[in-house]
Amino acid sequence: MDAHWTSDSPETLETEALAAPLFELDGDESPDSTVDAWTGGLLAELYESGEFSGKANETLLIQRPEGVSARRLLLVGVGKRSSASADSARDMAGAAGRRLRGKGVSQLAVALLPGFDTGAQGQAIAEGLALSQYQPDTYMTKEKTDSVITKLLLIGDGSANAVENGLAVAEAQNFARELVNEPGNLLPPRILAERAMTLDQEPNLEVEVIKRKGLEDLGMGALLGVAQGSAEPPRLIIVRYRPEGEPTSDLHLGLVGKGVTFDTGGISIKPSADMDRMKNDMAGGAAVLGAMKAIASLKPSIAVTAIVPSVENMPSSNAQRPGDVVTTLSGKTVEILNTDAEGRLILADALTYAQQIGCNRLVDAATLTGAIVVALGYERAGLFANDDDWQSTLENAASGAGEKLWSMPLDDEYRAQLKSGIADIPNIGSRWGGASTAAAFLKEFADPTPWAHLDIAGVAWLEESKPAMPKGPSGFGVRLFVELAMNM
Ligand code: BES
Ligand code: MN
Ligand code: ZN
Repeated sequence: MDAHWTSDSPETLETEALAAPLFELDGDESPDSTVDAWTGGLLAELYESGEFSGKANETLLIQRPEGVSARRLLLVGVGKRSSASADSARDMAGAAGRRLRGKGVSQLAVALLPGFDTGAQGQAIAEGLALSQYQPDTYMTKEKTDSVITKLLLIGDGSANAVENGLAVAEAQNFARELVNEPGNLLPPRILAERAMTLDQEPNLEVEVIKRKGLEDLGMGALLGVAQGSAEPPRLIIVRYRPEGEPTSDLHLGLVGKGVTFDTGGISIKPSADMDRMKNDMAGGAAVLGAMKAIASLKPSIAVTAIVPSVENMPSSNAQRPGDVVTTLSGKTVEILNTDAEGRLILADALTYAQQIGCNRLVDAATLTGAIVVALGYERAGLFANDDDWQSTLENAASGAGEKLWSMPLDDEYRAQLKSGIADIPNIGSRWGGASTAAAFLKEFADPTPWAHLDIAGVAWLEESKPAMPKGPSGFGVRLFVELAMNM
């Protein structure tokens, strides 16, 4: 997508469509007089009749509007003025983008929310629009005739850099969505690693892929145990970003993403209902790879390394059995009580590896438990951390990025539930509090480094379309990780 600012007056702008954000009216407030003039006085009537009220994401399309040269005028609600933010601008642009997708519109001019920071809005609008044009119909062979918006004109005078950043972040998030959308047969660990290799073209990124033999030499027994049931070999994908010049900080962020390209559950096999969805079990891995793509463009001043342990979890005569004992890279032994609790096993080795290569701040993202979906539904990812400061740093990054987290408990009592009679730790706890016992397992391998774990099982996939996003892969985590690296 091409996006830039224009200083032309919105009235005379020759464009296929112009979007105008509008607030809900407060008390006896009268409608925005500028936009009212664009509609030729219709706006007041629309508010009056209730046909348009300014509620968030509400849209109303006016053809050949009287007061502007634009071919179409799209009114977009942004909700109450008092609760508006950069997130509202992102949603507004996304709702406009969804409304006009497939309607023969390739260029859209967007007016800004009055009274809000221009730079932040420029970035958020570029993000929202670019995200809204994604469609998960990759393998439909019918010729794709739906029009997409390829050109954005932002009305006003703001930072070109902010807009560039917005586009880079959205493209990275769409890259992650494309990966998550791929079916298990077409994206085994081998191919995920090949797709990650495309990041090697970025001048400031370096990609390394470790294959089975290398993983054996390292001693990643937990990862290899999960991988052994599949004919598809495992991969450990490592993407390095280093800032230019002399380092100004000794922070080294490690982004670890679960990369299970398909999770059948293994010998502890899953029920067949909705098992197809388990192609999204690499969404955490996709999010950290996407983040690295954006980080290459935004160039934060700290070192960032992404680590994606990737396997396919399959039942077979070679598969790991319940009761097996494996030795992790850390040296700790694990009793496998359920082969479906595989994510934490591959993450354990990846978290140890991240510390071995010098990461001193860690975050992982993983579609780790059904329990987090029970707790938080589809709206927020669970946040677990072993360090209060680091936890707040993540909460700040999340709110800056417009991705919602909810802090979850990780008391020592959860660790105490993990008891094995034969090895150091079992890979599951009792039935209840499953998201916290899973996090307690990971903590065992992340301590003492400040670490946070995002359980994204409920948010990686949109079950229903939202005004600004089609149903399907969400790309959750990309924006948050980029924001985090930039804030650090
Ligand atoms: N990938 C699943 C978690 C999951 C469930 C993601 C639903 C998205 C939607 C994970 O590997 C898993 O199977 N977890 C088990 C753990 C249990 C065996 C302790 C679960 O949550 O049921
Ligand atoms: Mn599983
Ligand atoms: Zn899984």
